[in-house]
Amino acid sequence: MPHNPSGATDSDGRNSTPQANNDEPDGLKRIPGGLSTTGTPVDEILEDLRLERSGDLDWRGGRAFSLVYNADDPELERLQHEVAAMFLHENALNPFRYQTLLRMEGEILEMAKGLFGAGHAALTSGGTESIFMAVQTARDDARARGVTNPNLVCAITAHPAFAKACHYLGVEMVTTSCASDGRADPNAFAGAINDSTALIVASAPCYPYGVIDPIEEIASLARRTNKLFHVDACLGGYILPFWEALGEQVAPWDFRVEGVTSMSADIHKYGYSFKGTSTVLYRDHDLYQRQIFMYDAWPGGMYASASSAGTRPGAPIAAAWATLTHLGVDGYMRLDRRVLNATRGFRSAISDVAGLDVTSNPDLSVFEFGLAPDAPEDLDIAVIGDAMDDRGWNLDRQQGGLHVMLSPGHDRSVDAFRVDLAEAVTHRGAARDADHVYGGVVD
Ligand SMILES: Cc1ncc(COP(=O)(O)O)c(C=O)c1O
Repeated sequence: MPHNPSGATDSDGRNSTPQANNDEPDGLKRIPGGLSTTGTPVDEILEDLRLERSGDLDWRGGRAFSLVYNADDPELERLQHEVAAMFLHENALNPFRYQTLLRMEGEILEMAKGLFGAGHAALTSGGTESIFMAVQTARDDARARGVTNPNLVCAITAHPAFAKACHYLGVEMVTTSCASDGRADPNAFAGAINDSTALIVASAPCYPYGVIDPIEEIASLARRTNKLFHVDACLGGYILPFWEALGEQVAPWDFRVEGVTSMSADIHKYGYSFKGTSTVLYRDHDLYQRQIFMYDAWPGGMYASASSAGTRPGAPIAAAWATLTHLGVDGYMRLDRRVLNATRGFRSAISDVAGLDVTSNPDLSVFEFGLAPDAPEDLDIAVIGDAMDDRGWNLDRQQGGLHVMLSPGHDRSVDAFRVDLAEAVTHRGAARDADHVYGGVVD
């Protein structure tokens, strides 16, 4: 039976909600409801959760596309589980208390700087925190130059984490439309930049279409206008070096490009570690230094940190280090070759279906597909999405179509995708109206 977090009473009286009991001491009577009175035994919780989870999204089956980057590598998974258990209770808030975590974090940052040619780096909990830090450093740099109303210029395809960071940090976000190829338009950027621009942002690649913005052109604009320029490689950072090594065309996008001043790249995406680690990187020490927070007026001791988090769980740091160390260049090449094969397979399955097209010309393993301009009038991409759902696929909905994000494990689902998609396009009628949802709020 699923565990009942509300504490309601079940048939045999477990998990009962605390109720007024005249025999209880006064202190206990004041504890509000919600917690079960007697707690729940370990084995019972584990059994309930195993049952409950069997109905959750199956990310191992090769039919789900976002949220989990399934490396489909049992040895890597064994390593991550063991390392996570080893460091489960450790806290990198004060890294000098945990010498092993300290060493691992330092080595992760060295590996990241080496991969992207950065001068300085910090570890964060995810892409959004990395983006927050990059917006904060740019805002403070602008403030130091006397800018009182800083803005950030990006394309509409920039991840919503930039809108969120701007919202929290008091920065105005100026979005520009994309060129016809789905990439950020440097001319539109040039028209939007003004004296108050603190940061220009481009994606490598953007989430909706998987295209890399023209980094070199935007960097040259940033240099001409003397602006900071952030490349959001949350998605692409840990795959693009290997994608290029596999022989794919990848235009320079990292710190090799003069004018790129900061970057975000997530280890918990194509770095293949589990959730909770990203890197934010800088070319110059002065900008990186703006991210460091120090406070020495607290009776609890001197407080210093390199990101917005206080307590930092040890398990994600240890697993990120173990993943990078275990895989090495050979391991990433092996996994990313599978991603490349899956990408070719899925794209050809889509282009073989009359009436469907991949949007733009994606540079990576992330893309949207929708109706082709010559698609029959009665073909509806939402109906196709429903038909695919009914066959166990979990394609994410975007405004323009269905979204695919491929991991190594998807190379096993290419044939099934081809068969099911060919069948799904024969469906007609009304869609069930699945929402275009990317993130949600739990209340
Ligand atoms: C391009 C891009 N930037 C930033 C993010 C945000 O990363 P996170 O969800 O780890 O905060 C994502 C997430 O998918 C992304 O695709």
